Amino acid sequence: MKGFKRVAKIGFSLSIALSLAACSQPQQTTTPAAPPAPTPSASETPKPADTEKVKIVYARGKDVTQGTAKLVEAFEQAHPNIDVEVREMPSDTGQSHDQYVTMFSAQSSEIDVFDLDVIWPAEFAQAGYLLPLDRLMEQDGIKTENYIKGAMDAGNFGGQQWTIPKFIDAGLLFYRTDLVKEPPKTWDDLIKAAQAANGQGGTKFGYLMQAKQYEGLVCNFVEFSTAYGGKILDGQGNVVVNNPGTIKGLKKMMEVVQSQFVPTNITTFTETESHTAFIEGQAAFIRNWPYQFALAQDAAQSKIVGKVAIAPLPAGDAGSAAALGGWMGGINKYSTHPKEAWEFLKFMTGPEGQKISAVHGGLAPTYLPVYEDAEVQKASPLFANKDFINGVSAAVSRPTTPIYPKISEVIQIEVSKALAGQQTAEQTVQNMEKAMKELIQK
Ligand code: GLC
Repeated sequence: MKGFKRVAKIGFSLSIALSLAACSQPQQTTTPAAPPAPTPSASETPKPADTEKVKIVYARGKDVTQGTAKLVEAFEQAHPNIDVEVREMPSDTGQSHDQYVTMFSAQSSEIDVFDLDVIWPAEFAQAGYLLPLDRLMEQDGIKTENYIKGAMDAGNFGGQQWTIPKFIDAGLLFYRTDLVKEPPKTWDDLIKAAQAANGQGGTKFGYLMQAKQYEGLVCNFVEFSTAYGGKILDGQGNVVVNNPGTIKGLKKMMEVVQSQFVPTNITTFTETESHTAFIEGQAAFIRNWPYQFALAQDAAQSKIVGKVAIAPLPAGDAGSAAALGGWMGGINKYSTHPKEAWEFLKFMTGPEGQKISAVHGGLAPTYLPVYEDAEVQKASPLFANKDFINGVSAAVSRPTTPIYPKISEVIQIEVSKALAGQQTAEQTVQNMEKAMKELIQK
């Protein structure tokens, strides 16, 4: 992440990150509006649209913050005719993906609006699961140039806009200021610093990351690989994974995962296990997404309030690389309430919704003017830092292809074998190359 300097450490308390809240059973029913108004005259008789409350279902992964509850509350206040029911999906993006595919391939209308991981839009658009948004955006004057370009572009496929970005993620290094003076600049420095800090101040580990066989592993792998000059697919979609940079990056990842300073069961760690151990004060360093800061500052959950600072991930031979993540909102093509679904999507991804998600959820906005807001700037030192916005814009995408889930699965399987010591880095990239070429030729 060129140009992304160390981010200032700040220690105010804040509510947390990731998202969401309560969930009840989804319904598609319309319910009558609350108390009927005094009998109107014939000319005042309200149209059915004014008297009926429409219920829409909004699906998203588990939210560990108040962000989603606050968002829905603000939307319902502004739209008394629309009720939003939140349906909680698994926090593992791969599991959520599979549930959506099952639902949409059966043309289910059980949800109206949903959050999509940045890696899904090409696949979902091609499969015909999404309502195109161009006409609605034009009609309501939504300007794409107000959004972080890469995040908006990630929802553009086949010349149409299918999603609107809600928040952006980039991999970052978080460290304990009571244990670490200066954040390490390179992966070799990180290894030394994590070894040295391990056991200090009541910690049990030097470093935490996501090394389970799931999507988060792919993000960690992309960061190591890119830091050493590696690549998976080139701009034309050709498989180029078998290259010296990828091998070198994978070797460094294996060194970290097989070290004494990570938990012995690190290959079962997703974001949840790693952030929980970190806020319990068990480690000096963690690789995670921006929400980690707000979570660490939440006194109700964290034992390390005021003791955390943020830095770019360490560099390899080719520099420091952050994986690009983030979530967007889209509308189910089979929704029976597309009008209300659009109202909610527009609110959630617009200035008001993104401000709520930043302040109450610790999520990094994609709507650029929101970064000028004083409350947003107070919510995380990242949000007041121009280098952060440049940094996330330069973050590295995972391969953009409609067969991404299959490519990801190959990476997950092969990298997991390497981390378990079952094959060398060289064998791993050879296996990936062969499997990916077979998939792409199909
Ligand atoms: C975060 C990112 C998402 C990524 C996931 C992996 O949710 O925003 O893009 O796929 O982590 O666990």
